[in-house]
Amino acid sequence: MTDRSRVFVSHGIEALSALAGRDLLAPLRDKADCRVWAEPGRPSPEELRGHMQSAEGLLCLLTDRVDGELIEASPRLRAISSVSVGVDHIDLEAATRRGIPVGNTPGVLTETTADLAFALLLAAARRVEEAGNFLRRGDWAGGEWEIDAFVGKDLHGATLGIIGLGPIGQAVARRAQGFSMRVLGWSRSGRQVPGVRGVAFTELLAESDFVSVHVALVPETRGLIGTEALGAMKPGSILINTARGGIVDERALAQALRSGRLAGVGLDVFAQEPAGADHPLIAFPNAVLTPHIGSASVGTRVRMAELAVRNLIAGIEGNRMPACANPEVLVRFGKG
Ligand code: DGY
Repeated sequence: MTDRSRVFVSHGIEALSALAGRDLLAPLRDKADCRVWAEPGRPSPEELRGHMQSAEGLLCLLTDRVDGELIEASPRLRAISSVSVGVDHIDLEAATRRGIPVGNTPGVLTETTADLAFALLLAAARRVEEAGNFLRRGDWAGGEWEIDAFVGKDLHGATLGIIGLGPIGQAVARRAQGFSMRVLGWSRSGRQVPGVRGVAFTELLAESDFVSVHVALVPETRGLIGTEALGAMKPGSILINTARGGIVDERALAQALRSGRLAGVGLDVFAQEPAGADHPLIAFPNAVLTPHIGSASVGTRVRMAELAVRNLIAGIEGNRMPACANPEVLVRFGKG
């Protein structure tokens, strides 16, 4: 018999552990009876539910849907920890109602995600993918160096509009300043950031040559960039989204690309993930698309896993998590 807590880890992280040179789950194994999903792919909702019958803790990824039903069907659950900063895949209200803290990973991925936003910005502005594909297809061979081939847009001297001025939006603003861009910003809270001119939402859309999205996906931001917002963007501008797919209406975006209203787009996130090869935006040569890799550097993914493990250990031990997405639960239970 053992009185160790049982936790379920929804995705084996051996490959990341190998890159780190150590077992990233070791601190959790020391404290708890750790059941790790070892099958290919991710657990189905039914399989997840089955594992959560006896688990007191859950270590999950953003691909696991932790809805109210799952939380209610997990009688022993005392702590959830996601290896992500975004927690839109977790029903926070349901967790809070049950007094369950939800850990996330803010901070550790800020700079890495800002790097990817900037990579997409540069790639879309300078048509890097289109030009690379031209070369790979052999279309350059036998041709010429053309004076008007793949002419794109300069970043220097252009205006970048940042939607959402949290840590990642601010990190993108710092990069833009280094590229001699003028930076406008808008946030729902009206936050002011040095070096960023705070403007109204519609002014940002109308004045920016590039718009980069950095708000969280919450009911108020779902579909924020739809037909109306896209129509308000400067003709020939470029949209970048490394936040969440649900913030942008993809059908309206496809229409804006088709009509030539937007010169390009850089997307790391999609309304439905994983996106298939039949995704309508793949047909656009001026769409730079990546499969949700914003935080994908070895160092950052290791730091995310470590923080998520620390969060889960704290949660199952009844301590304050180092990063908690629903801190009101701690106040309610006298741990705030
Ligand atoms: C997150 O953490 O929410 C990112 O989308 C993936 O790193």
